[in-house]
Amino acid sequence: MQKFKLGTATAAFQCEGHLETDGRGKCIWDDVLLNDKSIAKYNPEPASDFYKSFDVDIKLAKEYGIEVFRLSIAWSRIFPTDASTVNKKAVEQYHKMFKAMIEKGIIPNVTLHHFDSPQWFVEKGDFLSKENIDDFLVFAEFCFKEFSEIKYWSTLNEINAYSGQKNISAALPPYFRLEYGHFFKQQYNMVLAHAKTVNLFKKLKIDGEIGVPCSVSPMAPLDENNPDDVLASDRANAVSNWSFVEPITTGGYSQETLKLINSVLKNYDFIFEPQEKDLKEIHQAAKNLDWVGINYYFTTFVTKADADFDFTINSTGEKGKSKFNVPWLWKTAIRPDLKYTHWDWAIYPEGLGHVVKWISEKFNCKLPIHITENGYGDLEDMTKTPFIKDYDRIQYIQDHFDVIQKLIDEGEKIEHYYLWSHMDMFSWTNGYNKRYGLFYVDFETQKRYEKLSAYWWLEKSKQDRLDEKVDLKELEKKLGK
Ligand code: BG6
Repeated sequence: MQKFKLGTATAAFQCEGHLETDGRGKCIWDDVLLNDKSIAKYNPEPASDFYKSFDVDIKLAKEYGIEVFRLSIAWSRIFPTDASTVNKKAVEQYHKMFKAMIEKGIIPNVTLHHFDSPQWFVEKGDFLSKENIDDFLVFAEFCFKEFSEIKYWSTLNEINAYSGQKNISAALPPYFRLEYGHFFKQQYNMVLAHAKTVNLFKKLKIDGEIGVPCSVSPMAPLDENNPDDVLASDRANAVSNWSFVEPITTGGYSQETLKLINSVLKNYDFIFEPQEKDLKEIHQAAKNLDWVGINYYFTTFVTKADADFDFTINSTGEKGKSKFNVPWLWKTAIRPDLKYTHWDWAIYPEGLGHVVKWISEKFNCKLPIHITENGYGDLEDMTKTPFIKDYDRIQYIQDHFDVIQKLIDEGEKIEHYYLWSHMDMFSWTNGYNKRYGLFYVDFETQKRYEKLSAYWWLEKSKQDRLDEKVDLKELEKKLGK
């Protein structure tokens, strides 16, 4: 397997901590999590102390066969107060971080925006305002030129999810609920921001590759033979997935997608119409893009929606708590034949195959694909057991590896896989309860401990094919655990 690389992923706000260090400015989450007690649940400090202790995690990455490492630069560290005043201390710290990786032969893949707009940018309207895109371009250009050691760049993480948190689920300022008009405006502006960033990257002739991590969770019909379920699935996919994946991969919007989107939006008093001038930029970006990223965790099974809105997020890991009903769109349904995580996410590796085929066949996009996130969140507690044997996580990753290997064998160009996450980190809506890492973090002492999955991963990194298996019994015997 020549080009394929195995890696792990992180995001600045979720792992760095040090909210007050080196002149960092606030980002959108600071006040939401620290001050607003009606919403505040978790303190994002100290997270995993990565801003200072990155050496520890990079050393582990090297020891456990990690070749590529996804991380993000916090915009509010580099430009803490406005769009033009650079904070040199943070710039130096990121250089040190990247150097530590590169010296060990680990390739960084750096995201410019991972859900963390600076507070000053939020006060100007964030990406809801098209004029603000220029501020992001200043940041992007600065990073491209300053951090010339980086050869893989990602523009904006999960454009749809960030737009949804602000305008549909009311999790972030301006706390809009079910405002599909605003959702579409912001998502469209972020697609445009992505496009302009990619075009700028190429105009500046930056040495390296640029891509975008897209959160694509298919909305599959509960019953494929039920026309109501199929219609709910088509509408939900058009609104939640194709509305941003299609312009990113094809450079435009098909009539089919626009028709489906607007059949829903008219009920929310909004009609979505992309503008000619923007489409030129978006079209050019699709040609300039080097790779497409897929963040895939689960598939949602849907059926016909009821009239009343219901959006209950399971943020505790108590199974069965989540409920979603979005009028005119979809209602979630449970497939009794599938396994679900504690957070009610259906474990459905085939869904990753469906997403890859959407990109390569439905949208006829032949760019290389990076799986920029995939992973298994669990409740884990080392005060109860001295060694975390995370069999469910291992099974989850292996099942997804099997799908990826099959896709590669079929000729799909999948080049990188990033497990979410490298070590345990802070989770936006679940605090420190939901752990994803190969390495357990004791958030009191900041010590790292290998989970069984870390040892398993090391064995995987030595294999030629992703669908080869590791004998766990043998491995445990060898480890004496
Ligand atoms: C992705 C995000 O959507 O999912 C990550 O890019 C996030 O930042 C991950 O942490 C897992 O989500 P959660 O809610 O389980 O932490």
